[in-house]
Amino acid sequence: MSAADVQKVSILGRESIHCGFHLVPYIVKTVLDALPASTYVLVTDTNVANLHLAAFQSAFDEHKLRGRARFLSYVVQPGETSKSREGKADIEDFLLLNKCTRDTVILALGGGVIGDLVGFVAATFMRGVRFVQIPTTLLAMVDSSVGGKTAIDTPHGKNLIGAFWQPEYIFIDAAFLETLPAREFSNGMAEVVKTAAIWNENEFSALESRSAEIFAAIQTPSKDFSGRTAATRSAAQQLLLSVIVGSISVKAHIVTIDERETGLRNLVNFGHTIGHAIEAVLTPTMLHGECISVGMILEAEVARQLGVLSQVAVGRLTRCLRGYNLPVSLSDPRIASLPAAKGLGVERLLDIMKIDKKNSGPQKKIVILARIGATYEQKATVVADSVISKTLSEAARVVAGIPTKSPVTMATPGSKSISNRALLLAALGTGTCRLRNLLHSDDTQVMMNALGELKGASFSWEDGGETLVVEGGQGSLAVPPKGKEIYLGNAGTAARFLATVCTLVQASAPGERTVITGNARMKQRPIGPLVDALRANGSDIQFLESQGCLPLSTAPAGLKGGRIQLAASVSSQYVSSILLCAPYAQEAITLELTGGQVISQPYIDMTIAMMRTFGVDVVREKDAATGKLLDVYHIPKQVYTNPANYNIESDASSATYPLAVAAITGTTCTIGNIGSSSLQGDARFAKEVLEPMGCKVVQTETETTVTGPPIGQLRALGYVDMEPMTDAFLTASVLAAVASMPPFKERELTDGSKPTTTRILGIANQRVKECNRIKAMIDQLAKFGIETKELDDGLEVYGKPIPELKQGASVHCYDDHRVAMAFSVLATVVNGTILEEKRCVEKTWPNWWDDLQNKIGVDVEGVELRAADSGASASTPASAAAAASAVIIGMRGSGKTYIGELASSILGWQFLDADAVFEEKHKVGVREFVAKDGWPTFRAAETDILRELLAQNPTGHVISLGGGIVETPAARDLLKAYAKRGPVVHIVREIDEVVKYLGEETARPAYGEPIIDVYQRREPWFAECCSYVFVNYTGVLTAAEEPKSNDPVLATLKPNGFRNEVERFFKHVTGQRPNLVSTDADARSYFLSLTYPDITPALPFIEELTSGVDAIELRVDLLRTSKDFDKPGPYIPSVAYITDQIAALRQVTSLPIVLTARTFSQGGQFPDNAEKEAFGLFQSAVRLGVEYIDVEISWSERLIQDLASRKGHSKIIASWHDWSGNMRWDSKAVEAKYRIAAASGDIVKIVGKANALEDNFALQDFARRMATAPGAKPLIGINMGIEGQLSRILNKTLSPVSHPLLPTKAAPGQLSFAQIQTALHLIGSEPARRFYLFGNPIAHSMSPTLHNTAFEALGLPHTYDLLETATVGEEIKAALAAPDFGGASVTIPFKLDVMPLLDSLSPEAEAIGAVNTIIPKRKADGSLLLHGDNTDWIGIQQCIRSSLAKPIVKSDAALVIGAGGTSRAAIHALHKLGFKSIYLFNRTRQSAEALVSAFPDANVVIIDALGAWPEGGQAPLVVVSTVPASATTTDPGVANALYLPSAIFAAHLHGVVIDMAYKPAETPLLTLASNVAKDWTSVRGLQVLLEQGFMQFYLWTGRRCPTRVVSGRVWAKYNA
Ligand SMILES: NC(=O)c1ccc[n+]([C@@H]2O[C@H](COP(=O)([O-])OP(=O)(O)OC[C@H]3O[C@@H](n4cnc5c(N)ncnc54)[C@H](O)[C@@H]3O)[C@@H](O)[C@H]2O)c1
Ligand SMILES: [Zn+2]
Repeated sequence: MSAADVQKVSILGRESIHCGFHLVPYIVKTVLDALPASTYVLVTDTNVANLHLAAFQSAFDEHKLRGRARFLSYVVQPGETSKSREGKADIEDFLLLNKCTRDTVILALGGGVIGDLVGFVAATFMRGVRFVQIPTTLLAMVDSSVGGKTAIDTPHGKNLIGAFWQPEYIFIDAAFLETLPAREFSNGMAEVVKTAAIWNENEFSALESRSAEIFAAIQTPSKDFSGRTAATRSAAQQLLLSVIVGSISVKAHIVTIDERETGLRNLVNFGHTIGHAIEAVLTPTMLHGECISVGMILEAEVARQLGVLSQVAVGRLTRCLRGYNLPVSLSDPRIASLPAAKGLGVERLLDIMKIDKKNSGPQKKIVILARIGATYEQKATVVADSVISKTLSEAARVVAGIPTKSPVTMATPGSKSISNRALLLAALGTGTCRLRNLLHSDDTQVMMNALGELKGASFSWEDGGETLVVEGGQGSLAVPPKGKEIYLGNAGTAARFLATVCTLVQASAPGERTVITGNARMKQRPIGPLVDALRANGSDIQFLESQGCLPLSTAPAGLKGGRIQLAASVSSQYVSSILLCAPYAQEAITLELTGGQVISQPYIDMTIAMMRTFGVDVVREKDAATGKLLDVYHIPKQVYTNPANYNIESDASSATYPLAVAAITGTTCTIGNIGSSSLQGDARFAKEVLEPMGCKVVQTETETTVTGPPIGQLRALGYVDMEPMTDAFLTASVLAAVASMPPFKERELTDGSKPTTTRILGIANQRVKECNRIKAMIDQLAKFGIETKELDDGLEVYGKPIPELKQGASVHCYDDHRVAMAFSVLATVVNGTILEEKRCVEKTWPNWWDDLQNKIGVDVEGVELRAADSGASASTPASAAAAASAVIIGMRGSGKTYIGELASSILGWQFLDADAVFEEKHKVGVREFVAKDGWPTFRAAETDILRELLAQNPTGHVISLGGGIVETPAARDLLKAYAKRGPVVHIVREIDEVVKYLGEETARPAYGEPIIDVYQRREPWFAECCSYVFVNYTGVLTAAEEPKSNDPVLATLKPNGFRNEVERFFKHVTGQRPNLVSTDADARSYFLSLTYPDITPALPFIEELTSGVDAIELRVDLLRTSKDFDKPGPYIPSVAYITDQIAALRQVTSLPIVLTARTFSQGGQFPDNAEKEAFGLFQSAVRLGVEYIDVEISWSERLIQDLASRKGHSKIIASWHDWSGNMRWDSKAVEAKYRIAAASGDIVKIVGKANALEDNFALQDFARRMATAPGAKPLIGINMGIEGQLSRILNKTLSPVSHPLLPTKAAPGQLSFAQIQTALHLIGSEPARRFYLFGNPIAHSMSPTLHNTAFEALGLPHTYDLLETATVGEEIKAALAAPDFGGASVTIPFKLDVMPLLDSLSPEAEAIGAVNTIIPKRKADGSLLLHGDNTDWIGIQQCIRSSLAKPIVKSDAALVIGAGGTSRAAIHALHKLGFKSIYLFNRTRQSAEALVSAFPDANVVIIDALGAWPEGGQAPLVVVSTVPASATTTDPGVANALYLPSAIFAAHLHGVVIDMAYKPAETPLLTLASNVAKDWTSVRGLQVLLEQGFMQFYLWTGRRCPTRVVSGRVWAKYNA
């Protein structure tokens, strides 16, 4: 055995904690030497056993010779559930069975679960045996294994039963951490950080600055047992071990002093009072350490609120925990997205805290931190509920009142702008720079992390974090490690500065690039102009997602330099970004700003001033003639020289809030560190805004004091240009709201504005800040009853006296710190104002609320918000009026009229074209009207028409509107309001197609501008006004070839996708027939999972793939555009791509679609944290009329509810997947999941994993129990895995199925539809039935082939036979009466004769007067009822529909030849299709006349000669012949046969001709058609037979016939 170097820590007086790497042989030897025993029992869980048990086994084996000792091992299931009474009993039984005695030594190898459980077994087995802790998780190493606490859980709570039982040894083998999942490692780091935070600042500093190295230590596996000896230990291992040992030493020390937890030991509960309460709500989804991490921050905030702890310390703790990927607030998406998170209410948490073991009586105790490394008391401190609840609540209410601390003197946090610049300058400079008053914010943290990752500089803290020491890197920067993207969150300044910094990175290995990215919102913020400028200068920068936004990928090649042109009208940060980096370019830079108006010049000046302090002089060019400054800057090539110290100015924007509080409350406030010499534009706020409002302002170079006029006496400003201080406009706006006195004389507006107007200009850039701040102010001020007006470049606010403002407003803050702080100023004078998201101030002033209370003297209370409704604008009618008219909008040329007419004919509704209505009303065409009266008049008139149309036709109409209707705001409002009552459908068509189409059409007014511009302007309006989107699909349908069939005739069967889709869509969205699957208790339904990255190649096969199923699941998380086909890992496909895929799919099938975005943690590819994207997608899907949306209940409850309220006629499948194999169907946990899902879903889906057959029975039990409970919803209950296949067979609603042709199964264990049917038959749930054909002669019938092929393809056990009899007699009666009778087809000559045997007839059978299908229906008492139907007419109708090129219009005519039984079906079909006239030709007029009277509504017109149509009548578009082929001829000379002239076919019509005769295939009629009417489509009789047979099959089985295989077989047999 190789020697191991261990570090020993003493606890309770013994050096029993041994720490090192790769210790297994050492452990075994030490145990055998020091703890002699007859039996050694190692207990572990399966995860750890798989990885590490063998090593122990062989180490014990090596020592076999040493006597008769036994080594046994026992493996339990992983997870908290093993820590139970049963789990304990199982181990005890194992020990007893193996005759273990008192001298046994038990080894607990595993995480805290194993340690606690095995420790407790050891504590009571034979009244206590020796045991050894070998922790394998970090949590267990630093926490649970140390201290001797053991316990198990009961249903009443965690750790309720246990004992103190000290292990003989604790072996810490840090090499185990190499196999530990990263999340578990972070979980343990929470405790490590905690221990350092209460005890040791040095330790904390190391953790704070070295998180990346510490992670690296566990992520790079050590080879050849390196680290076992000190000599082989890497620096990373050394660091890891020192962190662990340091943490253990503290805990061991505390335990030694206070073993039984009476006082000091309480300190290790820092973060645990609140953390445990959170854990109680979120377990088991969130881990202990994750909850404790949030708990620590909240408890630190409690300390800050009490005035004990500084914000610097809170900030350090926050960033340190974040560095270990731990959540630090309840709004972390990992927490907020959990359904359970809705249980995190303040009341609930306080309630849970009540039963904390540390409490004394009802008082709650919290460990209060005084600074990093020390606590306020040597024990937990009693804290009032009100303090805790204020910290916990999500919103703040400011108690209006006069600041009690006036005159206030305070400093504000360091300027964000200066902090960011100083950081970057010092990092790029040479030498050491100490930065003081640096703002501890996300932006600065992100900048530091990024510069660290680029190896640009190193950072350390002094004075408890008050000073940042920067070691400049002189501009040397390296590409981050491969694959590592620099994540910037939502830090906008950092993103803009770093965009240029990335170009400075020096060349390295080929192919390497620097990638910066951010969160979803960051990815929408513009950065395009900056990138354009850098690209133009030769930098290779790519946009990885949206053009003009992050993420950016930059090639490391240095910045070229020379002359750079930059469009600077959007953000001055682009300018600063280039200026700051410019000295490091290869050539000196001349920066020229283009694009007119330069925005925020003061920030550019600030940058230049600071560059000067760091030794670089920028020269701004002047016009030689006028001396006017030009927007051209010359920057020398030079390295920055760091000053030894740099004091960062207080943030002037932040200073506006306390100053404004003084102004609005008539009190005094002094802000130090900001004065007239300030670098920041916002420092002018006092002089240029507050003074003219009537305040007294005293400003020295470095200090500003403001005293407000008496309350209510603020003056309006008239006009103010805030261009030099744009960020302060929010503060100015809230003051302007209560500025009810007229302005000073010189500022009065002379344009007739209201006297209390404040017109703020020069702030257009504020539309693209954290939110659209101008809109935000307008909307939120409106809640106070303040009127405003939006201007291009700003806004007007009309002041009111304070008493007239509405009290109790709840202000939405848009996650924007400035909105929150500005409105808290207003709140000091308006009672009851609530700021909804108080945490958003964290960006620049995290302790604003504490300072408002403690330093200014205005009380702040915590408020819990009731489930507020989300303010999203889209609306989908959820409960629209029955038959509410459908409104159609869209671009001109998108197909509104065509689709609208088709939809109205399908719905049986009236079609209204707004343009036509317009022309009728104004007696003039739209074009002339515009020419005469101009556009504005036309738009107004058009809006009037819209109003009238909507009012007069509330139901039963399809109303198509002009493309420009959305140009008028009033019309948009009308549409948006209507969308709440009925569907507003936006027809979307590929813009290129629109352009192509419009090129040929001039009926309506020309645009007078490029169509593409019009399109871009209107698209957002269409989107905003519509509740549904119909895609007029023009994409390429198939990328693969159609499957080849043996017979060209097959090709005549076209899917007719477009018409079907119009039908499906409009019936669904109008609610006339929502396209849904029956979820009746006795119906079985299935969906096919499509797992293609791109479904278009599969489109030709969809019909076959979906045989038998009721719906199609589109796994959008698996969709990938071709460029991303092999991108592994989480992925968000674009909405546009998904829309296109859905539209393509709709062309080939009308089956309902189940849209699923399965998340990564639930077995899919959709990122778990992309909640916004997910719901954006779901919302789009609803708009597209997707019938089912699978929504995982792990998403936010609020968003799910919101979606549910907008789902229209679509349904939500609320789903939960647990792949771990640990979910028990009989547990309360699953029931809880069901309830959450049932609350928001229409269908519940719960998926587990079966380990054994029995798990499927447990699932069945569960399903049965839930089905009978109140509020039951249909359940999709499935067990994954091969063992779970039975559950797929037994599940009834929407069982997911695969198909043998699919490339991969969507989930392991998935079966095909046919397999399930076979299985159902075998287990007795699908009895075999017999089907017949009744008729004579029928020996050559194709029907048996048709139906038996279909049965076989679908795995159905039925059979179809011929029953040829002379009459309808006993044989037929017997067949009908048999218990296994499944159905029958009826043919000549029995179509009338069977009718007396039937119990009921369908209306169609009645109308046609013939039955060709008998369907048995089971009555409740089990007896059979025989129902007669007719599918012949459907066969005819289907063939016409799928062959006609255009929709049938009212004037169209059709021709039927012959007047026998079949012609009745033909007339019925043609009538149903909407033909205005049906010509009937028959040689004997009498039987023709009988038909005329049989179909009185059908307008049957008898004609005397083929080819001679009635007066004024059209030539027929459809010809159906029902006479035997042998009785017809095309030869006028043949006697005794019906002569068919070529005049039957009007050549221009593109019509359809059907010959109902089967034999021969080419009848004289069809031959004639193919000779003289090339554009006509011929349909053979066999095709009609097939179509009617498909329908028959559906009526019998409830399943769609697999038409392709069936047709293939039937044609093959026919041709044979
Ligand atoms: N006694 C105490 O003082 C004390 C203190 C804190 C926590 N606890 C208890 O500890 C338990 C939590 O402990 P935990 O966080 O270690 O959880 P755990 O024991 O469940 O382990 C976490 C997961 O990691 C796996 N795992 C363990 N070691 C591994 C390794 N080296 N490689 C790969 N996988 C590995 C486990 O199988 C498990 O799935 C809780 O029951 C808690 O109550 C006790
Ligand atoms: Zn803990």
